[in-house]
Amino acid sequence: PETGCLSIIVLGASGDLAKKKTFPALFNLFQQGFLQSSEVHIFGYARTKLSDDELRDRIRGYLSQGKGASSEHSEHLSKFLQLIKYVSGPYDGEEGFQLLNKEISQHEISKNSQEGSSRRLFYLALPPSVYPSVCKMIRHHCMNLSHLGGWTRIVVEKPFGKDLGTAEALSSQLGELFNEPQLYRIDHYLGKELVQNLLVLRFANRFFLPLWNRDNIDNIQIVFREDFGTEGRGGYFDEYGIIRDIIQNHLLQVLCLVAMEKPVSLKPEHIRDEKVKVLQSVLPIQMEETVLGQYEGYKNDATVSDDSNTPTFATVVLRIHNERWEGVPFILKAGKALNSRKAEIRVQFKDVPGDIFKCKKQGRNEFVIRLQPSEAMYMKLTVKKPGLDMSTIQSELDLSYKQRYQGVTIPEAYERLILDTIRGDQQHFVRRDELRAAWEIFTPLLHRIDDGEVKPLPYKQGSRGPVEADELLARAGYIQTHGY
Ligand code: BG6
Repeated sequence: PETGCLSIIVLGASGDLAKKKTFPALFNLFQQGFLQSSEVHIFGYARTKLSDDELRDRIRGYLSQGKGASSEHSEHLSKFLQLIKYVSGPYDGEEGFQLLNKEISQHEISKNSQEGSSRRLFYLALPPSVYPSVCKMIRHHCMNLSHLGGWTRIVVEKPFGKDLGTAEALSSQLGELFNEPQLYRIDHYLGKELVQNLLVLRFANRFFLPLWNRDNIDNIQIVFREDFGTEGRGGYFDEYGIIRDIIQNHLLQVLCLVAMEKPVSLKPEHIRDEKVKVLQSVLPIQMEETVLGQYEGYKNDATVSDDSNTPTFATVVLRIHNERWEGVPFILKAGKALNSRKAEIRVQFKDVPGDIFKCKKQGRNEFVIRLQPSEAMYMKLTVKKPGLDMSTIQSELDLSYKQRYQGVTIPEAYERLILDTIRGDQQHFVRRDELRAAWEIFTPLLHRIDDGEVKPLPYKQGSRGPVEADELLARAGYIQTHGY
């Protein structure tokens, strides 16, 4: 691993994302010894005027919640907070970034008493509207120019644009300032344990290799549900909607890993090459295979417009036009304010031909990968019902992580991904051509929604979403099994 001084600069340090995700992830890495006090310094930058201690207090407050009075935790936390400094300034003003650069350089000089390289990681926990100006400021005032080597890397959060045109414009702006290996586009679903497991599962297991295709699989669902609405984020959400918030990025990334061909190797570029091919093979979305919903009460939020046409729920069938998947619907479904919080992949197999047990009505073979909560994988299969009769029941082969890997802490997605950015591993980040292909799939549908041509159907909070979505699921071939 590289050594030398590491500066982590969190832009938007006083905001919600930084407080809830970025700083906690950095703290976890610190606790596990990945960020050494002798090398690392963390800088917060934002417009709000705060002292170093005021920022530290905010972070301490959030990180101490529910931790009781564990002295080990508070000792670690105090050491971690000492690494943090704060600089305030505007996102488009030179002085702020010049001052930031001065602070970083001072830290580098103090830490690099022995010769070592300087590493600068800029984390943009900011709204995308300021990406271009912030990136310009970083490029002009804050690059690592050390003759001893090192790097400057930029981490950006979604949403990357609002449609193909705006995303491409943003990519070009950033592309003029930084080259692709310097840019890390985060999609935090790629940092989830069971999403990272998908390649291993598919390509390291003989069980799956011959079955993972149109000859055996009837349909695949990738589902995201939340049991709360957009409270507190209505302003942001109303501009973007569920397709841009969840489906175009998180669920589509999962689809790529489920559907892609075996990469030449585990090199990030080989993996991302295969993902792009999947995206490029997706056929245009059909309106008959799309159901949009908006939960009742969504518009009561003062930050949401009264005539909002924004979907908070969508079910969309994607069809992949290639040899492996022709005819297999990939059903992507996401919704807010539903009956449960869950993200899972459901692979439903075709019926067994010549069913001598007459067990069809008990349900098909189904392989479920639950990404959250309670990570698990289970296979629904038919077995003989224990007892004297020769009758059958549906049962499960179940690998629940909590039971199987007791005592193992599953890392948070952000923690893993930030470590990757420090290590320079881009496998779990979205490449520019991937982003483009993802927008190409959804832009026509998004424009029809934005133009008011298609309207979301109302659904009750705490329900399964519009019934039309279940009807679409049935038309796509999904056969409901017990407990779903
Ligand atoms: C974010 C979305 O990207 O993912 C949120 O903007 C959503 O709307 C969140 O709540 C869900 O993340 P997770 O990891 O809780 O599934």
